[in-house]
Amino acid sequence: MASFRCSASSRSYNITLLPGDGIGPEVVAVAKDDDEPLSPWTTGVELRFQEKLMGGSALDATGVPLPEETLAAARDSDAVLLGAIGGYKWDNNEKHLKPETGLLQLRAGLGVFANLRPAAVLPQLVDASTLKREVAEGVDIMVVRELTGGIYFGKPRGFGTNDNEKILASTQKFIQFLRIQFYQEIDRIARVAFEVARKRRGKLCSVDKANVLEASMLWRKRVTALASEFPDIELSHMYVDNAAMQLIRNPKQFDTIVTNNIFGDILSDEASMITGSIGMLPSASVGESGPGLFEPIHGSAPDIAGKDKANPLATILSAAMLLRYGLGEENAAKRIEAAVIETLNHGFRTGDIYSPGTTLVGCKRMGEEVLKTVESQKAVAAVN
Ligand code: IPM
Ligand code: MG
Repeated sequence: MASFRCSASSRSYNITLLPGDGIGPEVVAVAKDDDEPLSPWTTGVELRFQEKLMGGSALDATGVPLPEETLAAARDSDAVLLGAIGGYKWDNNEKHLKPETGLLQLRAGLGVFANLRPAAVLPQLVDASTLKREVAEGVDIMVVRELTGGIYFGKPRGFGTNDNEKILASTQKFIQFLRIQFYQEIDRIARVAFEVARKRRGKLCSVDKANVLEASMLWRKRVTALASEFPDIELSHMYVDNAAMQLIRNPKQFDTIVTNNIFGDILSDEASMITGSIGMLPSASVGESGPGLFEPIHGSAPDIAGKDKANPLATILSAAMLLRYGLGEENAAKRIEAAVIETLNHGFRTGDIYSPGTTLVGCKRMGEEVLKTVESQKAVAAVN
């Protein structure tokens, strides 16, 4: 792969790469350059990568899914790019020895409570959508998912006993900081979502299950209260079952969606199908401060791992989100996104987004084609 040396005036950043398991290493490999410790992706921005173990590969090598060394390196860096974790091999492990547990520890360890998952239908891929063209065309949704709370993290959890009963609990709990009247877990994600909506089309739909769940009743109350800080945003509320239906019935009604950890997990997978493939969707997870975590929303796809069949575009687009939200390098982010579109315009497709008349390529080749496009754009920019 060709590589670029950046000029002396480059802004320089340290990126922790966590390739993970399954297709993770393949898709992450296209986002970096094998021969150079510099990113070939972008001018004026120097990215220094260091790779660490995470997930099942970390379990095999060290006995834990998130080694301390990995978390320390991630915390010390400017941003973290993750491939995917998990696989059949570790599916029956005890909970604390599951790759997924390492991912939750990483999210919590970095304090990245806000997970942005865009799902936009690209004109080039409308026919890859499972929905009819007239339903899918023009869809552009941002799911803002709470990532470090909710039932994923709530306590008490797990097995216990109470008198003669055995208890198994998963808990959704919100903590009220009485003195400052601040429902931290809801308020901070709601504020992020209002801000995101402000930069988009100004519409925010908050998804909950407030007709049944107490935690959702509180969620709705807080989101409604915060709306007064954002009078320019049109806020609506929807129950999660209805939202799942509306996403398929008329997805264009949505602009920004804000929801809790588990509903966001489910709805973002659903939204991805509207776009044609989960292999296209990136995500950004950010906290109040410190490095953000950027990862494709797809999993490790063990069935196609090592076969050069995976779609690397979700990871490349995650690298673009890393530049935008993690480093504030908007121009570099735009350049990568433009190159992805251009590569699709050239007709290159991995299997998941293939349609007759386009050129079927593997993971590596798709990465090379995007890189070629970035480089030709840079050459044009240099001449002008
Ligand atoms: C996701 C994944 C994870 C989640 C798993 C792998 C723990 O499904 O990022 O959406 O549930 O958050
Ligand atoms: Mg998920």
